[in-house]
Amino acid sequence: MLNFRRKIMVTVDGSAVSDKAVSEAVWLAGCQSGKFKNKLCALFVKTDRVQDYDEMVARWLPGRSDAEDRERWQRITDEIFLVVRKLAAEKGIDLETVVVEGNPAERIIQEAEDRDIDLLVIGSTGKGAVKRAFLGSVSAEVVEQAGCGVYVVRA
Ligand SMILES: Nc1ncnc2c1ncn2[C@@H]1O[C@H](COP(=O)(O)OP(=O)(O)OP(=O)(O)O)[C@@H](O)[C@H]1O
Ligand SMILES: [Mg+2]
Repeated sequence: MLNFRRKIMVTVDGSAVSDKAVSEAVWLAGCQSGKFKNKLCALFVKTDRVQDYDEMVARWLPGRSDAEDRERWQRITDEIFLVVRKLAAEKGIDLETVVVEGNPAERIIQEAEDRDIDLLVIGSTGKGAVKRAFLGSVSAEVVEQAGCGVYVVRA
């Protein structure tokens, strides 16, 4: 099936569910044949929704200077990409990590389009405190509006 190079994008928010999505995405990216290596892109959208960062928020607020803020964001994003970097390295997958800012669903859809992504991998839920039956607000909007296929990994 996967006999040519695919571009897979996994969306990460640092939640346990997005870690599950990462391991599926790495597995999928590893399903390649011959000389065609799939590419994996991990995308994190920085938002101003404080609740999305829970235990990390203590380190995030309040920034006394721009340099301090940048350092905090660097640590947060390093943590968020930790699992995908480790798994991709273990499997020899080409990985690009991308950080953008804004509304998560809108940015995910836009980045997937701009980067010609073939398949988006997303968790069913994420950092949100409210327990939902199936989909969080980001995954619901992405499933509904993305221009490519979306693989929703269940919590
Ligand atoms: N800021 C983000 N950047 C990248 N991916 C994200 C971001 N937020 C969510 N996602 C992706 O969407 C999936 C579902 O998260 P979503 O935010 O929809 O659920 P939730 O946090 O439980 O609910 P809500 O945010 O609506 O309160 C996550 O597992 C992750 O893959
Ligand atoms: Mg969320």
